[in-house]
Amino acid sequence: MVIVAPSILSADFTRLQEEITAVADAGAEWLHIDVMDGHFVPNITIGPVVVENIRKKTTLFLDCHLMIQHPEKYVDAFLKAGADLITIHKEANADPVPILRHIKEGGGKAGISINPETSFEEISMLLPEVDLVLIMSVHPGFSGQRFIPEMVPKLKQAYEAIQRTHKKIYLQIDGGINNQNARLVKQNGADVLVAASFIFHSKDYRTAIRQLKEA
Ligand code: DX5
Ligand code: ZN
Repeated sequence: MVIVAPSILSADFTRLQEEITAVADAGAEWLHIDVMDGHFVPNITIGPVVVENIRKKTTLFLDCHLMIQHPEKYVDAFLKAGADLITIHKEANADPVPILRHIKEGGGKAGISINPETSFEEISMLLPEVDLVLIMSVHPGFSGQRFIPEMVPKLKQAYEAIQRTHKKIYLQIDGGINNQNARLVKQNGADVLVAASFIFHSKDYRTAIRQLKEA
């Protein structure tokens, strides 16, 4: 069974605690937190202060997706805030290996992500260092965008490379995930599905999450 990670980017931030409780009660195991700095991506979202407050209110696994430049400057703050997993981007102009090791030394799980225009080969050598690979299926920055189907072969390529490691590495897909494409991404190896608008803009979170899990 896949893990569903609702992204709070499409939640009602004025009622964040209620929203988090609602997705937890509806069957989500992880909570995906999109961190944006206005440099790596055009948008600005939230930082460690919000993660720290969320940590006090939920036992959900906190999956922090750092779409920021210089992630090395911020991983300690996110670990201290209670992040369970920190994913950094290959394109973030930093050497990922020491950052990934630092995250793990700090007690977190470490993930690496690539944007749609980056090939899997750019990160294949990092598999021994990571607990998760995140394939972006939209250009990062905003929720509510359309899934880019050309990312499916890359997902499959990542899946096959992960299989060859004989190590547990989560394969996450993020961007435009809904009940129409969940089956396709699962068939191609994804085991953690991120969804913001499909879940938080639905009338019934339980149904939305079940549709992703059972697709
Ligand atoms: C995009 C973020 C995604 C986003 C997904 O930059 O990384 O996590 O919130 O939103 P949807 O599911 O609406 O495409
Ligand atoms: Zn994300």
